[in-house]
Amino acid sequence: MIFPTTVFCLALFSFVEGFQLLPRQQAAGLAKVGSTPSRSTRLFSSDADESEKKDDRIDLSLDDRLYRMRLPRAPGIEWGTDLSFSFVYVRDLDPVGPASMSGKVSKGDQLCELIPVESEGKPLNLLGASFDNVMGAFAGLGKTVTEVDLVFFKGTKDELKEACTGDESGANSDIITVTVVQNKGAEDESVVELQAKAGVNIRQLLVDNGINVYQSVTRFTNCKGKQLCGTCIVNVPNGLESTNWKSMDEASTLRDNPDSYRLSCISFAYGDVTVETLPPVEKYQWTR
Ligand code: FES
Repeated sequence: MIFPTTVFCLALFSFVEGFQLLPRQQAAGLAKVGSTPSRSTRLFSSDADESEKKDDRIDLSLDDRLYRMRLPRAPGIEWGTDLSFSFVYVRDLDPVGPASMSGKVSKGDQLCELIPVESEGKPLNLLGASFDNVMGAFAGLGKTVTEVDLVFFKGTKDELKEACTGDESGANSDIITVTVVQNKGAEDESVVELQAKAGVNIRQLLVDNGINVYQSVTRFTNCKGKQLCGTCIVNVPNGLESTNWKSMDEASTLRDNPDSYRLSCISFAYGDVTVETLPPVEKYQWTR
């Protein structure tokens, strides 16, 4: 039996604390924050090939709401996100902490970039990054790093998205592509691309498009998305970092499966993802 879990956003004043809570794939996914920018993260970059660019730092001249601050690695900032678990912003400030004392950082400012202050410190583009990736970015700083250069955007998440996309209507900024692979490796393997609003529930999207996520009789006896049967298992080989954080209940249910396996009924996609239906599972997982 799996019990529904209320997922909530962790907020930390110190990044040294808490990083042990990160699931393996999220800690490992840290490098992806800067190296595989999402649609939004590309928009502050030049058109040059990523590998050709000498400096991937965000160009502050592109928008006067952007600013860069050098702060201690524990800057006295409580980070937060909305239920998308992405686009991390300053939720609160320690009134006597370095960020607050700078007089520049304000509640609500969006975090866009982190550069460790060290020789050859590489920029991590955090535009639109998930909360876990941001926490992982700080937790992954080398022990000798005492300061970080942070780029913030003074504005709301929507304003930042508009600045990124150049789309003031915001009409297309929230549309994502879910690539669904059925019968992977079989002769009748098929791939279909579904467009959806960011934040879409993966099971609901698949079911609404006539795609089965259940193996065996659970197609008819499942809990219909109530996180009770544990049989709506899919694999998310690409874009896992664009989904919500795996709860402890979900991680426990899928403890015998690869990290990329998800219960589709409690998984939400906030960026482009690939979903494989009916992945190989243990026999006991067919018919809970
Ligand atoms: S756990 Fe039953 S449908 Fe997802």
